[in-house]
Amino acid sequence: AHVDPTALTRLSVKINHHHPNYNNTAKFSSDNWTFNKTLSNLIRKNILRFLDPERDISILKGTLKPGDIIHYVFDRHSTTNISENLYRLLPTISPMKNQYHRRCAIVGNSGILLNSSCGPEIDSHDFVIRCNLAPVEEYSRDVGWRTNLVTMNPSVVQRAFQDLVSEEWRDRFLQRLQSLSGSVLWIPAFMAKGGEERVEWALRLILLHTVNVRTAFPSLRLLHAVRGYWLTNNVHIKRPTTGLLMYTMATRFCEEIHLYGFWPFPLDPQGKPVKYHYYDTLKYEYTSSSSPHTMPLEFRTLSTLHRQGALRLHTRSCD
Ligand code: CTP
Repeated sequence: AHVDPTALTRLSVKINHHHPNYNNTAKFSSDNWTFNKTLSNLIRKNILRFLDPERDISILKGTLKPGDIIHYVFDRHSTTNISENLYRLLPTISPMKNQYHRRCAIVGNSGILLNSSCGPEIDSHDFVIRCNLAPVEEYSRDVGWRTNLVTMNPSVVQRAFQDLVSEEWRDRFLQRLQSLSGSVLWIPAFMAKGGEERVEWALRLILLHTVNVRTAFPSLRLLHAVRGYWLTNNVHIKRPTTGLLMYTMATRFCEEIHLYGFWPFPLDPQGKPVKYHYYDTLKYEYTSSSSPHTMPLEFRTLSTLHRQGALRLHTRSCD
């Protein structure tokens, strides 16, 4: 198929920057979506000009030593030191080295997943990426349970595990980590200051209980590189969300990319309320102007790519 090389640069033309038009996706016809391999290859190639996801997915052991000083990516004036534990858990080779998968699922955390029955469909992908240690067990009918890579913002330890204040919470957290058996645990430890202790607690538990996860810590250049890629395509994202970061990186490892649980709006296409997260009571104010994210803009960008066949956004039930 012939592909217009400027297709991506024209993304922004279709984007309405002011109105989070959640009815937009009502136009999605999930039935007539076809994968646009040529466009997807082109996107991969363009992203590779800005970052190499295989490398940027994690800092490697050889490049640092304990005690080294790191400047936080978003708080340049604050620093942290590479702890012994973090050093021990740095991978020696990229956890995604030579990995190539035909169909990948990236699972965002929107409440749109509730009652979707998408679990089996999500689990049928060759590689499943999840965000922020979102629980799966109680929700597996709708979200599936397979996990090959899961992210963990340091703030999750506070938000979802009560800062591990009691034995009970430490146990719950440990159980969640143990349930990951063998998958990649991706911890953006050097993005913003404030999460140092939380990361350290997690690492200590992993080492103490020899938890079977492959830890990864994104490179210091990843965020700016991803932002740079989208900026060049006229998508002005302040700070890419975990979901968009995962999509941008997945283009390197995946042929067809399917997104579930991406819906940053309080109502579904039929006007029914949608929870911000499928698993907790966080409210939408969380993504208000005070938030560094621009989720509706990201969503519209992903919708455009869906229409062009570069990725597939699943926003309906899978029944
Ligand atoms: N997401 C979405 N709609 C929602 C909630 C989440 O599209 N209502 C997507 C976003 O891309 C988000 C990802 O799912 O990054 C994971 O959700 P969450 O864990 O809530 O991410 P946040 O902590 O809110 O944001 P981040 O980790 O990106 O800072």
